[in-house]
Amino acid sequence: MRKKVILITGASGEIGQALVKSLVSQIAMPIITLDIAPLPEGIHSQVIALQGDIMDKALLSRLVSEYEVDTIYHLAALLSTRSEFTPEAAHHVNVEGTLGLLNLAAEQSEWRSEPVKFIFPSSIAAYGLPDLDTKASYARVREWEWNNPRTMYGCNKLYCEQLGIYFSKYYRQLAAERPEMLDFRCLRFPGLISAFTVPSGGTSDYGPEMLHNAAQEKPYACFVREDVRIPFMVMPDAVKSLLMLTNAPRSSVAHCVYNVTSFSLSASEFRDWVLKFFPKAVITFEPDIKRQEIVDSWPADLDDSAARRNWNWQPDYDVQRSFAEYLVPNIRNMYQAK
Ligand SMILES: NC(=O)c1ccc[n+]([C@@H]2O[C@H](COP(=O)([O-])OP(=O)(O)OC[C@H]3O[C@@H](n4cnc5c(N)ncnc54)[C@H](O)[C@@H]3O)[C@@H](O)[C@H]2O)c1
Repeated sequence: MRKKVILITGASGEIGQALVKSLVSQIAMPIITLDIAPLPEGIHSQVIALQGDIMDKALLSRLVSEYEVDTIYHLAALLSTRSEFTPEAAHHVNVEGTLGLLNLAAEQSEWRSEPVKFIFPSSIAAYGLPDLDTKASYARVREWEWNNPRTMYGCNKLYCEQLGIYFSKYYRQLAAERPEMLDFRCLRFPGLISAFTVPSGGTSDYGPEMLHNAAQEKPYACFVREDVRIPFMVMPDAVKSLLMLTNAPRSSVAHCVYNVTSFSLSASEFRDWVLKFFPKAVITFEPDIKRQEIVDSWPADLDDSAARRNWNWQPDYDVQRSFAEYLVPNIRNMYQAK
């Protein structure tokens, strides 16, 4: 008998590290992590850590020959800014990598006659609003609206959502017998902010960058205009939403793709929150027109009422609590300890 495991790809990244820490404290099932980057020392000993590429088919075959994969958190990806510089590489990792893991999950679901849960983080980048007037009139965007991404990353995410829906509903639809299909569940995240890791390669990074620089007493030039507004959420709520969606009974998961969010801030409001806690912070605005245009195409807020209705989603941290109880104390501690 193979041992049942949870597989987390991209575990060395921002969300992955937070998810691993939370899962090891809650779940008895062994966790296998797979990332091209090494897992940080602190969490390495709590999991079976594989350092490797999600595109390595031999590695994935070895993995399923030894373990029964029960749930996959597929977090490995190239993020939005990096994907714009290397669109083909982004397609390779973000789409072909996801397809490989969906295939693995589909085969595993058939083998064990039980769906493998496939949890996939999508993004606000799956949306694309054509101009600022439209952005102003569609403030809280619902899942099926404005699915017109203007970045490679957004295109990759939107297509992978569709692939996930295909594999969980229509896979082998012409076969004589209906296969046991995987259980695909996806969250569209807003910009996420962690107190413990500094983001890199995302287009919503200006928020967390303001904070981390302020805590280190370094000046920061924000790469978007002051009035630019997008939604945000702190990392504990991102992990909470991933675990809530994973654990929701299948009967309550009416859709495969859900928005989740917490608070929406303009860049100047974000600066003002930072200044409340770091009054000496020097934050200026030097918009990079090209990155700016990408953020302008993202909605000002997400409508997450379907997640709230279907599986009782609600964030624990509003903006006040995010800054006062999670971000500022932890970021201060982190830099004081250094
Ligand atoms: N952080 C956010 O604001 C945010 C928002 C929406 C969606 N997401 C999604 O959540 C997931 C995790 O994001 P994150 O912020 O932790 O990103 P991250 O860049 O911090 O982590 C991604 C991880 O994937 C790994 N990786 C990349 N290519 C790989 C490959 N070929 N094989 C194995 N590992 C590989 C990287 O080494 C990295 O550790 C991504 O899919 C991202 O698109 C993140």
